[in-house]
Amino acid sequence: MKGVVLAGGTGTRLYPLTRLINKHLLPVGKYPMIVYGIDRLRQAGITDILIIMGKQSAGLYTDFLGSGKEFSVNLTYRIQEAAGGIAEALGLARGFVNQGERFIVLLGDNLFMDDLTPFVKSYERQPEGTARVLLKQVKDPKRYGVPVFDKNHFELILEIEEKPVNPKSSYCVTGIYMYDTAVFDIISQLSPSERGELEITDVNNVYAAQGKLEYDILHKWWSDAGTFESLQEAGRRMKGMIP
Ligand code: DAU
Repeated sequence: MKGVVLAGGTGTRLYPLTRLINKHLLPVGKYPMIVYGIDRLRQAGITDILIIMGKQSAGLYTDFLGSGKEFSVNLTYRIQEAAGGIAEALGLARGFVNQGERFIVLLGDNLFMDDLTPFVKSYERQPEGTARVLLKQVKDPKRYGVPVFDKNHFELILEIEEKPVNPKSSYCVTGIYMYDTAVFDIISQLSPSERGELEITDVNNVYAAQGKLEYDILHKWWSDAGTFESLQEAGRRMKGMIP
């Protein structure tokens, strides 16, 4: 398996801090935010990692992370020219993942304590052309993509509703996704949403509609660090996670 960390986007909810530096390089405990995702991948034995980043602060990523050697991984970098959405950023991984290979995608602002190893193993047992997402029970599902479960097949998601006014479950779809190269054909057929982005939820809903979207649930602490409050909490929680 290979890994892809998405670190594009504009980080507007963290203005004015993100006017100075890209969100994923902001300090969380002792390290820039992005290091924690890289370390979770390494822990699961995934060492071939692509980082998709915006143009802002691009040089700082390589200044800090270099080839990845210090973190026991092998890093490749690609640039997303403008924030065209999570699925657009993911489309830039085409070519990094070989035909027949599988990969795990992390949103760079997702911080979590679970070890990914058992989830990766479950995905490796799934048939080709299927996908897997990781869920977390949250107090405020409205802020996220929310799964609608298939009552007849407990392992499947029927649909994901993006930031619904009336969420149909108390779970959110975290920014941890697993695919094979079939995902690139799905992305190439997407149209931009009302906000002009290629949406990851539209990608996952193609799988869901075909009964090909399975899931696992994270048991430990998880958060996206996209707001000042969650960024501060992440700093407290992740302190000491990496020596
Ligand atoms: O954190 C989980 C949530 O992430 C999911 O529950 C939602 O279904 C999913 O749409 C996403 O929602 P957000 O509104 O939080 O996504 P946001 O636009 O904040 O982007 C999250 C990360 O994705 C960001 O840290 C970097 C990456 N990204 C985003 C955009 C828009 C890119 O790499 N390129 C982009 O163009």
